[in-house]
Amino acid sequence: MGIQFDATNLSAAMVGGDHGITKSELKRGEAVARQALAGVRALVDSGEIGFPHLPFQQKTVAAIRKYAAEVKGSYDTVCLIGIGGSALGAWALDCALRGPHPVQGTFSTAFPRLVILDNVDPSFVASALASMQPKKTLVVVAAKSGATAETGSVFLIVKQWLEAALGKKAASRIVAVTSENRGDLIVLAKKEGYRTFFLDENVGGRFSVLSPIGLVPAALVGMDIAKLTKGAAEMTALCWKDDLETNVALRAALQHFLVWTLRGKTIQVAFPYSNRLWGMAFWFRQLWAESLGKKTNRAGEVVFTGQTPIAALGTTDQHSQVQLYMEGPNDKVYTFWGVEKFGDSGKIPKAKTGLDAFDYLGGQTLAKLLNAERKATTAALTATGRPNATFVLERVDAAHVGAFLQLMMFETAFLGEMLNINAFNQEGVELGKKYTFGLMGRKGWEALAAEYAAYEEKQNKSR
Ligand code: PA5
Repeated sequence: MGIQFDATNLSAAMVGGDHGITKSELKRGEAVARQALAGVRALVDSGEIGFPHLPFQQKTVAAIRKYAAEVKGSYDTVCLIGIGGSALGAWALDCALRGPHPVQGTFSTAFPRLVILDNVDPSFVASALASMQPKKTLVVVAAKSGATAETGSVFLIVKQWLEAALGKKAASRIVAVTSENRGDLIVLAKKEGYRTFFLDENVGGRFSVLSPIGLVPAALVGMDIAKLTKGAAEMTALCWKDDLETNVALRAALQHFLVWTLRGKTIQVAFPYSNRLWGMAFWFRQLWAESLGKKTNRAGEVVFTGQTPIAALGTTDQHSQVQLYMEGPNDKVYTFWGVEKFGDSGKIPKAKTGLDAFDYLGGQTLAKLLNAERKATTAALTATGRPNATFVLERVDAAHVGAFLQLMMFETAFLGEMLNINAFNQEGVELGKKYTFGLMGRKGWEALAAEYAAYEEKQNKSR
């Protein structure tokens, strides 16, 4: 598999003992890594978590491909309504495999665009509706819980918009991806006769990109989901190996764990040098933040742990963030994501302007410049004692993207075990959701509405 991980610049030898990891710490960490591997294995074997199985669900992949083939050509837009784990994976895939937003090719029935409605900003939703034609739109509504307020409200608006143009036929243009046995979305889908796809209960939202949540929109816009899952399956096999050389996810987890917990790097900057990987940086941000930001550990002790993920784009953010990274607090670890072979190298025409700033660039390529800037930034950070590591993907295609997504999900799972926390729940997200139900008058949530009212009263008295 063409994905390399180089952690040399996390070492004390490169960035000094105050910020880098020593060989003996790494050696001692091997036992922690072995334990984490066994821990994740046990969670999978007991059925508690299911994301490692996703790339092997070939029946599901075949069913999705069959449906995509049936409806192909009947739409020029796929409108995905979902949020968090029900939207970010599809966005990451779309950016990586069909071109970065907003510079994708001209859309058509042969190259449908993906419009992702993952917010309830009324001007965003209105603009999106104005940009789509109902008769040429296929709607995918994705919500594992089947009860998310943002998804439900936007879906009702889009459904009405579709029905106004198509009448009863609207139902045949809606696909629901949700849990089979819980939530109200499945109830509505059955009542109205939507096409449905399901995801397993033991796959959390942020680990669901390779389930129908990510694969349905991906297939509908023409991505090769068989190659995507094949790449992820190959990576999965590597993620079960117990030697750190082969198991890149485990090695990366150990390195990140050590530099975080022993050297206090509580922020991780995910730094892709590729616009195609930019969507994936936002997907990663959710994965890392929600999985590893926890109040208590598995023993019930209050630990308030977490590493804040930041998404930065190379080279763009060299001109907005790197000043801080070079001279600000040394509290971060930087993880660069590079690409070896770009589809188009971006040849720069030879120039004889007689001007220094232009002539040395002529005849070279943008790919070379991009990678030179990445290497230069890693060298500069290393020179100032800032620990950094680099993933390099041989190329950004379906197989490598599938593998990289799976690698990062495994890394997150391993790190959760190293921290002795449950990386698969998200209690912290729930309270805000519950207050929203109360505030919006949902039946059964009156107590939360009252709690919120008490909070406002306290605020008023404190002014
Ligand atoms: O990772 C998670 O579980 C969450 O971020 C969910 O993906 C998010 O809250 C959306 O949930 P749902 O798919 O139920 O609408």
